[in-house]
Amino acid sequence: MTTRISQEEMALQRDFIKKVAEINAQNAPPVAHVHTFGCQQNVSDGEKIKGMLALMGYGFSDTPDGADLVIFNTCAVRENAEDRVFGNLGALKHEKAKNPEMLIGVCGCMVEQQHITKKLKQSFPHVDLVFGTNALHTLPKLIYEQLNIENREKRRRTFFIPEGDGVIAEGVPLRRENPFKASIPIMYGCNNFCSYCIVPFVRGRERSREVPDILAEARSAIDGGARELLLLGQNVNSYGKEPGTSFSELLREINALDGEFRICYMSSHPKDFSRELIDTIASCEKVTRHFHLPVQSGSDRILELMNRHYTREDYFAIVDYIRERVPDAALTSDIIVGFPGETYDDFKDTLSLIERVKFDSLYTFIYSPRKGTKAAEMPDPISAEEKGKWFAELLEVQGRLGENAYNRYVGQTLRVLCEGGGRTDPAFLTGKTPQDAIVDFAGDKSLIGKFVNVKIEKALNWALIGSIVN
Ligand code: SAH
Ligand code: SF4
Ligand code: F3S
Repeated sequence: MTTRISQEEMALQRDFIKKVAEINAQNAPPVAHVHTFGCQQNVSDGEKIKGMLALMGYGFSDTPDGADLVIFNTCAVRENAEDRVFGNLGALKHEKAKNPEMLIGVCGCMVEQQHITKKLKQSFPHVDLVFGTNALHTLPKLIYEQLNIENREKRRRTFFIPEGDGVIAEGVPLRRENPFKASIPIMYGCNNFCSYCIVPFVRGRERSREVPDILAEARSAIDGGARELLLLGQNVNSYGKEPGTSFSELLREINALDGEFRICYMSSHPKDFSRELIDTIASCEKVTRHFHLPVQSGSDRILELMNRHYTREDYFAIVDYIRERVPDAALTSDIIVGFPGETYDDFKDTLSLIERVKFDSLYTFIYSPRKGTKAAEMPDPISAEEKGKWFAELLEVQGRLGENAYNRYVGQTLRVLCEGGGRTDPAFLTGKTPQDAIVDFAGDKSLIGKFVNVKIEKALNWALIGSIVN
């Protein structure tokens, strides 16, 4: 069962924030290093961690060197994500030897797995605090317990991974990474159990926030200068099924809020991407023209083994309807190469799918077995070397298709949200089109965080080049 954290419990945590702030005020201002390894959902959790820590008196640093508190907010989706965390944790051993008072915490999706907490217990004795994804709002209490013990010898290592299907905690303080882009979780967890994926195991069951809570957060973000709202969930299309509202209704309500801003959302699942939703998006002028619709594979046999609940023909039907209703739409997708039992013929079905759809860009991954998932038990005879060759072929084909896709923007004038200074030339700015394409153009830094009209003059395979028009 999903638990909504009570207001009393949240008030208790606010008291702990004050108590930690009092302790911290007795010394030089402490510094925290918070490193997030995972997806947007994790980045959003990281903003809550920083929000709580800021109120406890912490400043922030980009490196763990000399920090009083280090928190690693981890991801479990692929093995290399986990390897990076262990590598970084190993390096912290030396830091802690130099500064034994350093407090080290690990949270996020990785620690929801028993084999990981066991490894942390046994092989990483310098880690003081481990807390699960459903314990995030209790961070003030956990830190208070660590700091309050006067005698360092008595400091206990704490592992706090609450059991259950997941919680919703409203009112956790926030410190947004970017003043004009606001990530707003609308739901947590996942019920889909795609056979390769660890997320449902580490994030619990699907649960939706209440519409008024989301609208209030959206309103305050817009009033605070946000020009892009990113609605987050593992499968936003199934938002609100239980409390009797839908993602389409939510989009319409946010679209109706006053102000100039853009609404983005991720991720979507093709099985729940309905015609009604596409009609809604077509009619909501603030909703992005970018459709990130992870397909994973172009082979029906593999899609079934993945437990995805759609066929390639279903996918084409969605794409065709999007193109009919939203002619300026851009599509992007996620692809997994080398799922257990995938043959070269299956892989060729993926190639033919991307040739047919013509995505603007793709996020491509080599399959990584995740302990506890169904796919990890399936026979996987293809060698890593062979999978690597298929992967390279996929990149090559998409490289050509992506460049062609970008060429269609040349000559168009697009409303661009200016996101920052140019990466190479200081006279340039960089921004995103409604289709989420990156565009570089000459302009003054005062435009950062504002919308400008940009005429696209040239397409490279990773970005567009243009100039501002009135
Ligand atoms: N809920 C989102 C995001 C899931 S994780 C969604 O369904 O789209 C993001 C991407 O990581 C997935 O779309 C998938 O392409 C990839 N992924 C997930 N598990 C993986 C695994 N075990 N190996 C390789 N890639 C994986
Ligand atoms: Fe993982 Fe599938 Fe859920 Fe996405 S929809 S988080 S891929 S189980
Ligand atoms: Fe990783 Fe957890 Fe996101 S496993 S992809 S950080 S939900």
